[in-house]
Amino acid sequence: MLNVRDLHVRYGRSVAALHGVDLAVPDDGVLAVLGSNGAGKSTLLRTISGTLKLHRGVVTRGEVRLGETRIDKLDPASIVRLGVVGVPEGRQIFTRMSVDENLRAGGISTSAEQRVKARKRVHELFPVLAERGRQRAGLLSGGEQQMLAIGRALMSAPQVLLLDEPSLGLAPKVVEQISGIIREIHAQGTSVVLVEQNAVMALNVADHAVVLEVGRVALAGKSDELSRSEDVQRLYLGGHAETHTVTEEAGPRKHFLSRWGG
Ligand SMILES: Nc1ncnc2c1ncn2[C@@H]1O[C@H](COP(=O)(O)OP(=O)(O)OP(=O)(O)O)[C@@H](O)[C@H]1O
Ligand SMILES: [Mg+2]
Repeated sequence: MLNVRDLHVRYGRSVAALHGVDLAVPDDGVLAVLGSNGAGKSTLLRTISGTLKLHRGVVTRGEVRLGETRIDKLDPASIVRLGVVGVPEGRQIFTRMSVDENLRAGGISTSAEQRVKARKRVHELFPVLAERGRQRAGLLSGGEQQMLAIGRALMSAPQVLLLDEPSLGLAPKVVEQISGIIREIHAQGTSVVLVEQNAVMALNVADHAVVLEVGRVALAGKSDELSRSEDVQRLYLGGHAETHTVTEEAGPRKHFLSRWGG
């Protein structure tokens, strides 16, 4: 179980990005983290994966634990070895390396035996990565690059996979495909923290969800309950449970803030 308790994060002196975030990622579950631009979603994932420092951020209060182990003071490589791995915003694959080389880089901290197993799993989840193994990663389509980014993360056989907006910029059909793969990854026993602005996709995939607003958890609950919540429907699901579009947030956000005390 991954636990975040009373987490406060700043960037430099002026930006307080998270102020008092609490959440739990159940073993073998999918937790969606929703919220508008600047809410602190990426900051949360960077803190969990230990990459916050690379962005000049600091934890000023609170803690992150994986089981009994405190991980918020560890470096990213140690956190990967403990079983928590992130796919950052914008994928960040090595575009000049081949698909295979990218996967190999993801499995660098594991044993040869584990690597063989992990590669098999990745190739089964994403057959295209097997077909295109020798191709330069930068030549893959956007969706395929996202698959490679997820595949590379899975090469370290994580217990917890952190995904930052995997649907960003992808066609609806590809988003659907990626949703199915996230479900499959979860079914294979890996917990997933899914950061998304695509609330429809995220609530469909996740069992639990939290909504971040300006660095705080404004709402938390089971996905199906949140999908039925009036506020989530109006602000994130376009007004009706049946509607499959995500609304523009600029207008309603204000109301959301006043209602949830953001
Ligand atoms: N490296 C940084 N230096 C300074 N401020 C930052 C940095 N990264 C993020 N911030 C600020 O911290 C706050 C939270 O940003 P964060 O990127 O976590 O939001 P987000 O929810 O991921 O947004 P988006 O949906 O746009 O990706 C914002 O006010 C942002 O401007
Ligand atoms: Mg972000």
